[in-house]
Amino acid sequence: MDGPLLEVRDLTVEAERGRRLLDGLSFEIEENEAVGLVGRSGAGKSTLVSLLAGRRSVGIVRTGGTIRLLGESLLDAPPAVRGRQGARLGVLWQDAESAFDPLHSIRSHIEEVRRVPGHGPSIAELLAKVGLEETAGRAYPHQLSGGMLQRAQLAVVLAGEPELIIADEPTTALDPPHTTAVLEAIRAVRSEERRAMLFISHDLELVRRMTSRILILARGRIVEEGPGERLFAQPETDETRALVAAGALARA
Ligand SMILES: Nc1ncnc2c1ncn2[C@@H]1O[C@H](COP(=O)(O)OP(=O)(O)OP(=O)(O)O)[C@@H](O)[C@H]1O
Ligand SMILES: [Mg+2]
Repeated sequence: MDGPLLEVRDLTVEAERGRRLLDGLSFEIEENEAVGLVGRSGAGKSTLVSLLAGRRSVGIVRTGGTIRLLGESLLDAPPAVRGRQGARLGVLWQDAESAFDPLHSIRSHIEEVRRVPGHGPSIAELLAKVGLEETAGRAYPHQLSGGMLQRAQLAVVLAGEPELIIADEPTTALDPPHTTAVLEAIRAVRSEERRAMLFISHDLELVRRMTSRILILARGRIVEEGPGERLFAQPETDETRALVAAGALARA
């Protein structure tokens, strides 16, 4: 295919009284590429994810720009095209609990996002990919720990065979052992399936370990981008320097 997998151009989003949450945001993701998006709290990361996923947020309007996935406008696509979680675009929400219906088992969530019913890897295979036992499929969301539920969410995303996986701070709500398990599951999926990924966090060091190219988001714009190693060794903007320093402080 010609052109990038995902192309975001001049995306501008405003809240009440014209306050810009995203201000002419532009970036691309190539097929198989793992890209990081890093910015401090309030930079606009989740606002971008909501737009990509087609979630309407009250009080927010898009005033300009385009989002294309495989050349097709995502903004004009009817919700059905995206599927329940967005089949072409699978989102790993920070708060895994909010992504599940408490009345349905993990297994039925997986069945629901399959593109073709009965097609693709079995439920046991999907659960194994994310490091869960087959019995987890019969569980209801409240029966799983936060880390298990986040991995179950990844299994549901994979069932939709998305072109792009978006992970919005997938481990910030988890304790260290669960964080490690979830990151390992995401890494394993990346290396086995070579799916493109947008990995979002305020933690530059974490994102450096998960991706090959990082976008720095500040006040709704990309202010710097490059491989994680370069951003750490030679940050060119105050924003990147601040994110490097914040990480060093947190780990001290
Ligand atoms: N529905 C809304 N109406 C008005 N303003 C909003 C709305 N949702 C978010 N905002 C504002 O948009 C800005 C960006 O918020 P966003 O949630 O995208 O940040 P973020 O980078 O994801 O931050 P965090 O790291 O805390 O998750 C913030 O100033 C926030 O207050
Ligand atoms: Mg956020």
